[in-house]
Amino acid sequence: MEERVLNPKLTEEEAALDQTLRPQRLAEYIGQNKIKENLSIFIDAAKKRKEALDHVLLYGGPGLGKTTLAHIIAREMGVGIKATSGPAIERAGDLAAILTNLQEGDVLFIDEIHRLNKIIEEVLYPAMEDYALDIVIGKGPSARTLRLDLPRFTLIGATTKMSLLSSPLRDRFGNILRLNFYDQDDIKKIVERSARILDMSVDAESAVEVAKRSRRTPRVANRLLKRVRDFSQVRGDGTLTLDITRKALHLLEVDEFGLDEIDRRILEAIIQKFQGGPVGLSTLAAATAEEIATIEDIYEPFLMQIGFLHRTPRGRVATELAYEHLGFSVPDSLQNKLL
Ligand SMILES: Nc1ncnc2c1ncn2[C@@H]1O[C@H](COP(=O)(O)OP(=O)(O)OP(=O)(O)O)[C@@H](O)[C@H]1O
Ligand SMILES: [Mg+2]
Repeated sequence: MEERVLNPKLTEEEAALDQTLRPQRLAEYIGQNKIKENLSIFIDAAKKRKEALDHVLLYGGPGLGKTTLAHIIAREMGVGIKATSGPAIERAGDLAAILTNLQEGDVLFIDEIHRLNKIIEEVLYPAMEDYALDIVIGKGPSARTLRLDLPRFTLIGATTKMSLLSSPLRDRFGNILRLNFYDQDDIKKIVERSARILDMSVDAESAVEVAKRSRRTPRVANRLLKRVRDFSQVRGDGTLTLDITRKALHLLEVDEFGLDEIDRRILEAIIQKFQGGPVGLSTLAAATAEEIATIEDIYEPFLMQIGFLHRTPRGRVATELAYEHLGFSVPDSLQNKLL
């Protein structure tokens, strides 16, 4: 598969960089102010009562900072964290082993929690509600259930797909926090913070330039910064200037809205092949040779966020802004269509 510089998903080679750039405390976590304020109240209250923090569900697109926040919560609470993921827990016994090994107050972080299988979810319910584990001993008519007490722990679940989470599981979280796309100004601060950590010199204009094209996503901002740095070291003296930054971003084919070639292909397909839409997701996927899930999870949320795409009951529609940005003349019918 071709590499895509704007993909908000984490690639393997990036994992180490991700670690260095990850904020460690709530105060270092940039943006998402409402969430931070809520969290700091929950955390202070739980600490005052000397209780485990209520279970937290973090919900938001890839690269917006869910894993980072889970680790910060544990650190701010002063407790240990055990991290796993929905697909990694294959049998009920795996979960039982994890739960019984937790210390009082610990955080259990389950990434991609929407991918837990049903049987395991059911083990989780009494664990979340009563801090108890129901174990079935024996088989057939002689089987008995034994209830084991668990330490009081905090479950932090992360998901990019709230709609795939079963409602009984969702209802057992005391705090549901939704991470949104960041303001451009916060992304600029993230770029500047990362540059400091990477020991790079970046002027304000260049930081804005990187921020503008980062799809309002911290992971994308960090990735673009790294690519621009590579470029500046090869073509310049390692300093980021506006000129160098623009050239590097141009070479990466990222435009001033943060759109890349695939975003443009999706919008062009809607405009040229389907008269601006509405067009169904699967038809659009076929026409662009992209996977349905990729369009839905990665491209579409950002195109909607910046007002280039609308989702209607009958399918996807390109907006006037999209026509203009791609240099197409806006059809008269478009205004009426959107009303
Ligand atoms: N609020 C923030 N302030 C500064 N840096 C951030 C912030 N949020 C995220 N980052 C940076 O972005 C990177 C990606 O964040 P993180 O891994 O937490 O995203 P995620 O939501 O867990 O993504 P995924 O859905 O792919 O698991 C982190 O390495 C971190 O450096
Ligand atoms: Mg994550």
